[in-house]
Amino acid sequence: MASYNIIHLVVCLTFLSLLQLPMPSHCADPGPLQDFCVADLSSPLLVNGFPCRKPETVTSNDFFFDGLQKRGRVFNPLNVNLTEVDVFAFPALNTLGVSMNRVEFLPEGENPPHTHPRASELSLVTEGKLFVGWVSTQYILYWKVLTAGEVFVIPPGLVHFQRNVGEGNAVFYAFFNSQNPGISKIAPTLFYSTPLIPDQVLTTAFNVNQTIIDLIKSGASVLLP
Ligand code: GLV
Ligand code: MN
Repeated sequence: MASYNIIHLVVCLTFLSLLQLPMPSHCADPGPLQDFCVADLSSPLLVNGFPCRKPETVTSNDFFFDGLQKRGRVFNPLNVNLTEVDVFAFPALNTLGVSMNRVEFLPEGENPPHTHPRASELSLVTEGKLFVGWVSTQYILYWKVLTAGEVFVIPPGLVHFQRNVGEGNAVFYAFFNSQNPGISKIAPTLFYSTPLIPDQVLTTAFNVNQTIIDLIKSGASVLLP
């Protein structure tokens, strides 16, 4: 029976490739193989995701998260507070392929250009007025100014940002199709890596002299998480 299934799979794949049909792409997390798999974040095992806790030790409380209610939030030097609800904050998300962030902005606050290597992002503004934009691989900027109740989508892996362009504070929620979307911020990636990218690479890449690279580097540290 098993060998029949393998032969069937090979025949189907060969047929699809002969037809030159586009193969389905899987840019989201793989689907779960059980009802739930609450992450054991302390396990020494290294797997794709996290090992599951024993189901008999899991209770309703494991599927509940109240971290967004916490008050006394700290804003970063760019006037933004970001609360991640990913598998590290909420281990029940392990294998479920979803997560979210809440992002709050003081006036002129900015969530600077960044990418999520493992997820698309769906952004819902609930308060204020936000300039939201992302840049395609053809270097086209797609953007909108969103107010409460409006949604913008950001394709996986593309550079995007948000800036508060209203008079007061702004808030939005970002939803991801990954338990661990990851974040690569452009400025610290280029100017504050460990070890640093050689200056010759940066002066060539930006077609500027060393003084300008030094100037950018002197400010990039505030952009670190
Ligand atoms: C916004 O882009 C976020 O990643 O939270
Ligand atoms: Mn984002």
